[in-house]
Amino acid sequence: MRVLDVKHILCIGAGYVGGPTMAMIANKCPDYQVTVVDINAERIAAWKSDSLPIFEPGLDKLVASTLGKNLHFSTDVNANIAKADIIFVSVNTPTKTFGRGAGKAADLQYWEKTARQILAHATSDTIVVEKSTLPVRTAAAMERILHSGKSEIHFEVLSNPEFLAEGTAVEDLTNPDRVLVGGPETPTGQKALDALVEIYAHWVPQDRILRTNVWSSELSKLAANAFLAQRVSSINSLSALCEETEADIREVSRAIGSDSRIGPKFLHASVGFGGSCFKKDILNLVYLCESYGLHDVAAYWEQVVRMNNYQQSRFVAKMIASMFNTVAGKRILVLGFAFKANTGDTRESPAIQVCRELTAERATLVVSDPKAIPNAKNDLPDLTDVTYEEDPYKAAEDCHAVAVMTEWPCYEKLDYQRIFDSMSKPAFIFDGRGRLDHQALFEIGFNVYPIGRPPLSHLD
Ligand SMILES: NC(=O)c1ccc[n+]([C@@H]2O[C@H](COP(=O)([O-])OP(=O)(O)OC[C@H]3O[C@@H](n4cnc5c(N)ncnc54)[C@H](O)[C@@H]3O)[C@@H](O)[C@H]2O)c1
Repeated sequence: MRVLDVKHILCIGAGYVGGPTMAMIANKCPDYQVTVVDINAERIAAWKSDSLPIFEPGLDKLVASTLGKNLHFSTDVNANIAKADIIFVSVNTPTKTFGRGAGKAADLQYWEKTARQILAHATSDTIVVEKSTLPVRTAAAMERILHSGKSEIHFEVLSNPEFLAEGTAVEDLTNPDRVLVGGPETPTGQKALDALVEIYAHWVPQDRILRTNVWSSELSKLAANAFLAQRVSSINSLSALCEETEADIREVSRAIGSDSRIGPKFLHASVGFGGSCFKKDILNLVYLCESYGLHDVAAYWEQVVRMNNYQQSRFVAKMIASMFNTVAGKRILVLGFAFKANTGDTRESPAIQVCRELTAERATLVVSDPKAIPNAKNDLPDLTDVTYEEDPYKAAEDCHAVAVMTEWPCYEKLDYQRIFDSMSKPAFIFDGRGRLDHQALFEIGFNVYPIGRPPLSHLD
């Protein structure tokens, strides 16, 4: 197997993971040719244009540095499989919406289709790398599919889950906490792993490249997301208790997080986590546990997702209760729609559930966001009482309330006096992200409802 002279890298799937990771590899490894393919022609065209298909700070510069030199985008999946020595598969693995495991299990149809395509078009020994997040033991199924055809071609299936966070993807890829690579404990498996490690070793220190077996690698990705989401749900559960007891969640967070065994990250109370991964990966873990008969383990992790749903509904319930038990006919500014700052991604954004619950109560919504309005429109196509306005000042006019859904830094610098002056009175602000200066807002005249802290109200 010619694993040690890998020079043609292919990535199947040009999404939030495939595009940035391959742009980084191309940038750091000028001795490799890197091609990214996708069945979505519009996405591929956008990667080759001045207007990339995703917003990520620093990504445009990174792509421009190698585009057309050793970074290529194409829709010709089959021809590029034929040329590749190593293939990263970075297709989507959403939650299944049909049949067995619907609502929990990972939908592996895109991944399996890709494996069959690799089998049909590979012309020589090939390393196949799972970049997508997959259930534990997927590599075994893939191996079986890949070895069900032409026996003269040898495939090695490796796991290399991606840990980048949207909004900081370029920074995360430049300085990863770790790169995880899992491979079979066979001589050819280890040789393939060497070839994969050689790519990352161009810029990642050796001690940050963790080698494990395939199953540990697959499971570690699900486990990492479950642990991160669990911290968010843990602090959010306490935010509800704070609101009942006059404890302040920010003080509690600081007190907990300064314990070096716990640490301060991911202890910021909010309206809840979103993004394409946390919920999907936890439910995937829950389904796996259930399928192995580990029902108590499954129930333990499922509660993390339940707590997140509870926090979103609780946020809406508080809005309604504070606004005299009705929002019907009231105009509400939804400030931010992306699931977090510095991305236009809205997948599983808490804003979606909040908007749906508010319109069910017959509120009229104005959604504002610097990057996410096109995606927001796709998320709420059926809602007629929603308009979209990028300019937050225009969006706030005549509103009864502001619901802050995304921690965009620009929202901390808005002229809230100007916003207050243009709103209906009494004016309310519900801060779902806890980044605003609540005392200053109160002094302007707002009735301020933070998460996990006592409200600052002029109405009592
Ligand atoms: N988004 C994140 O922050 C993140 C982080 C770590 C891991 N992941 C994981 O990485 C994987 C990809 O996530 P994403 O956010 O990039 O998804 P995405 O939906 O943005 O991109 C996936 C792409 O794969 C393409 N695709 C699907 N089937 C194909 C096929 N047969 N041939 C060619 N292209 C095909 C789709 O058209 C799409 O453009 C998922 O498993 C996800 O869980 C995502």
